Amino acid sequence: MTAELAEAVRRAVGAVTDPELRRPLADLDMLRDITVAQATAHVGIVLTIVGCPAATRIEADVRAAAAAVPGIDAVEVTVGVMTPDERRALTERLRDGRAPRQMPFGPDSLTRVIAVTSGKGGVGKSSLTANLAVALAARGRRVGLIDADVHGFSIPGLLGIAPGTQPTRIDDLMLPPVAHDVKAVSIGMFLRDGESVVAWRGPMLHRTVQQFLTDVFFGDLDVLFIDMPPGTGDIAITLGQLLPHAEVLVVTTPQEAASDVAIRSGLVARQTGQRVIGVVENMSAMTLPDGTALDLFGSGGGQAVADALSQGGDPVPLLASVPLSPRLRTGGDAGVPVVLADPEDPAARAILAVAEAIDRTGRGLSGRRLPVSLR
Ligand SMILES: Nc1ncnc2c1ncn2[C@@H]1O[C@H](COP(=O)(O)OP(=O)(O)OP(=O)(O)O)[C@@H](O)[C@H]1O
Ligand SMILES: [Mg+2]
Repeated sequence: MTAELAEAVRRAVGAVTDPELRRPLADLDMLRDITVAQATAHVGIVLTIVGCPAATRIEADVRAAAAAVPGIDAVEVTVGVMTPDERRALTERLRDGRAPRQMPFGPDSLTRVIAVTSGKGGVGKSSLTANLAVALAARGRRVGLIDADVHGFSIPGLLGIAPGTQPTRIDDLMLPPVAHDVKAVSIGMFLRDGESVVAWRGPMLHRTVQQFLTDVFFGDLDVLFIDMPPGTGDIAITLGQLLPHAEVLVVTTPQEAASDVAIRSGLVARQTGQRVIGVVENMSAMTLPDGTALDLFGSGGGQAVADALSQGGDPVPLLASVPLSPRLRTGGDAGVPVVLADPEDPAARAILAVAEAIDRTGRGLSGRRLPVSLR
């Protein structure tokens, strides 16, 4: 009877997922002795490293899972740490046969890589990327996000990741923090105290970005978003070389000045072999409560960029016009993207339509006009 109870507890506890590795504890070989005596479950688990940031959560989840087994009145959890050998076995299993230091997002990978670029700064790339990422995650996709803007990384804040949060290291494997179901890393997380990348030159940036792509363990992803820095500089070229099969979303404001550089950023991406899958116009006219339209940045920029990028190549659709939205900004400031905080907001609806279009197309549909209805 107690043996059966212990088995039931083992099953329940084994199904608890590690919040960082996102797999059940049983698969991660983290369960140790599990016994039951007088309706009290004694559960032994081991974690990857001492002071594992997820430890409190795992322990609480284990306790709750064991306590929920009928016949268990009390739970005692003993938390230990894996031996180096056990850890090595785990990292090997996680890599799934892939050699260390191998770039997992090559042309053979099943992960779609979507780089969000704009040319001009401040047009809302990071806000859109963060919103698209959480929107796709909410649709059940496994989503990663790389903040490649070394000078002005903003993704952690937009996703509500606390300042100073670092990837968890298990030996040479780095696990990205997870926010709103998106695994997100920023170059800012890799700087040592006081270090700044502002003065870095091309080769140094190239090495860092490359390392970023190889050493961060995202696991299997459906989509990896890359929030590009403004401009068509070193990082854009490096990423173009490392990820020539990436798809590119071009963001622009309705303003003519923004569209010229946006076109250029799309053309640079295309030169490295990447495909421009669409244009998103951001900060377009918002409708005021009295029904009048406030178009701070004019209109037509998005369509102009789409038309220009469609010349001499596959047609590039204008996927959406995202209106100016106070809720989009406050959502970003609060670390809860507007698509989650207020999905009925007009900007949120426009972004959700883009997410849906991206999700519907899948890989290998370059140039196909994405059937998005604009609201
Ligand atoms: N549709 C919108 N309505 C209102 N505010 C917006 C909208 N889109 C972006 N913003 C605001 O504009 C500012 C710039 O946005 P964001 O940081 O996303 O742009 P970016 O293109 O990533 O900038 P950078 O070039 O600095 O990386 C932010 O404060 C953001 O909240
Ligand atoms: Mg940005």
